[in-house]
Amino acid sequence: MRKIIIDTDPGIDDAMAIMLALKSKELDVLALTTTFGNVAVDLATKNALTLLELADRDIPVAQGVATPIAAPALAPPDFVHGSDGFGNINWPASTREADKRSAAQLIVDMVHQYPNEVSLVALGPLGNFAQALEIDPSIVDLVDEVILMGGAAEEKGNVTPVAEANIINDPHAAELVFGASWPVTMIGLDVTHQVIMDNELLAYIRDNNGKEGDFLYQATQFYFDFYYKTFGIKGCFVHDASTIIYALQPDIFKTEGRVIRVAVEGVGIGQTITAKPEQTFALDFWENRPVTNICLEVDSQRALNLIKSVFS
Ligand code: BDR
Ligand code: CA
Repeated sequence: MRKIIIDTDPGIDDAMAIMLALKSKELDVLALTTTFGNVAVDLATKNALTLLELADRDIPVAQGVATPIAAPALAPPDFVHGSDGFGNINWPASTREADKRSAAQLIVDMVHQYPNEVSLVALGPLGNFAQALEIDPSIVDLVDEVILMGGAAEEKGNVTPVAEANIINDPHAAELVFGASWPVTMIGLDVTHQVIMDNELLAYIRDNNGKEGDFLYQATQFYFDFYYKTFGIKGCFVHDASTIIYALQPDIFKTEGRVIRVAVEGVGIGQTITAKPEQTFALDFWENRPVTNICLEVDSQRALNLIKSVFS
């Protein structure tokens, strides 16, 4: 089983990704760590605990950063995820308690506990990974893979014309994560915009997954409404769950190695600017950047089939 830690800001599509990971027999979810993003970090932690209670799983949840490193904080997008992060369905909150450690400390501890076995999966802004790198830079050689939902290489942004939500929420953190010499796979809008979950699949998940399925169905209706009003789409893009699909079957995606710089200020703030490693430029911004594995294409039918089979 592949060991993963999921860093998350739940969030409706975060909930779908977490449930997918917990249901999969090939993933061993060691812990959830939380960040601000779709909701404030306190609520993200409560929501993570609620999801684990719902799934009847007892793994640690550690709370992480509450604000970006240096960029202006953006208001939580309650019009996308609801003010409760779960589509305003009034689901009863868990009374479980979070781990006493910070998210970053838990990540460092678990990476040392299972050297070269743990993959870090990010479903939100990247402040906790940046902080873990600061606490202990040696983890770059001990993490199996960093798999993150965020950014866009060729596709337009979803918060500004060039920036994706998780990256613009903490561009300095993203710049540190892409700049560290650990293996990073970026699952950005280039591929998540190609995979659309519809209500038929969501109803299948509801009908085959007891109270977890019921929860996902109810919460996702709000998300679907947002998509219909905003994009005219009946369904939703599969953002966060695409990381889990990749962790399970990476060959569903076509990838290309590129170096990445993140714009941390100005009109382009939050943009993930990518270049082929062999490209050389007049300015030295591109020197000594590690190569990121960027997902550029996806077999969307296989991705949706995999979701269906895990939830069957
Ligand atoms: C990302 O932003 C959040 O709203 C989603 O949960 C996802 O992580 C998509 O851009
Ligand atoms: Ca998310």
